[in-house]
Amino acid sequence: MKVVALHNLKGGVGKTSAAVNLAREANRDGLPVLLWDLDAQGASTWILGSETGLSHKVGKLLAGKSPLGEQVRHTPWERFDLLPADMRLRELDRILEDKADGDKHLKRLIAPFSEEYALMILDCPPGLSTLAEQLIRAADRILVPTVPSPLSVQAFSRMLEHLQLKKRQRERVSPFFNLVDRRRRLHREWIGSPPESMGCMLQTWIPYASDVERMSLENRPLADLAPRSRANHAYRRLWQELKAKLEE
Ligand SMILES: Nc1ncnc2c1ncn2[C@@H]1O[C@H](COP(=O)(O)OP(=O)(O)O)[C@@H](O)[C@H]1O
Ligand SMILES: [Mg+2]
Repeated sequence: MKVVALHNLKGGVGKTSAAVNLAREANRDGLPVLLWDLDAQGASTWILGSETGLSHKVGKLLAGKSPLGEQVRHTPWERFDLLPADMRLRELDRILEDKADGDKHLKRLIAPFSEEYALMILDCPPGLSTLAEQLIRAADRILVPTVPSPLSVQAFSRMLEHLQLKKRQRERVSPFFNLVDRRRRLHREWIGSPPESMGCMLQTWIPYASDVERMSLENRPLADLAPRSRANHAYRRLWQELKAKLEE
């Protein structure tokens, strides 16, 4: 099983939109997929038509004292399952910090799911935290949706500084541009030639498109909501590019 995290220290940059659409694209591609909504706000849980709230305490589940696998729910799409969010995930960092097995705890929690799924997607809350430090151990790829603006680029550099990654780890962090508006000069420049501090970016970028916003009104991924839209084609390309990286 491959594990892909959508992460950014900033909120509102497109983590959830990418998590849901990438999961659905992978699923359409024939992979059994599990999306874990780790953000207490529960946006991807909502889009996938489910309710937030787990039946056991998050602390116990994440400590491994109650089986996490029992919390998995089906979505309307076959072989596309969801581990829904819970308000108590606001304490995720403290819970992960308290664990005795250090920065590999998240990786251990995820491991049992590899029997059933070929891909697990983690929709992460914003922040630069214990979770971020554990992600680098747990995930094969960390995708970082980034708005083409100087402050977002700076935020990305700060994230890398904070994580103090080794070269091999750094290679598994892949930013990509989201909310691209080609009418804006900076956006056009940067999709052609991104700032050096972004390192090796994914080639695919996602345009600003109101179809993406409709996902949370109609509770469906773009592949089902607007299959022929520009944004859906972009997410499809993003999945193909990610898939090739995961196979490397
Ligand atoms: N490419 C896009 N075009 C238009 N709206 C977008 C796009 N990506 C995200 N959005 C909208 O921006 C808001 C934040 O996106 P979301 O994916 O929830 O970000 P995050 O998970 O990083 O907080 C949502 O209302 C979403 O619909
Ligand atoms: Mg989100």
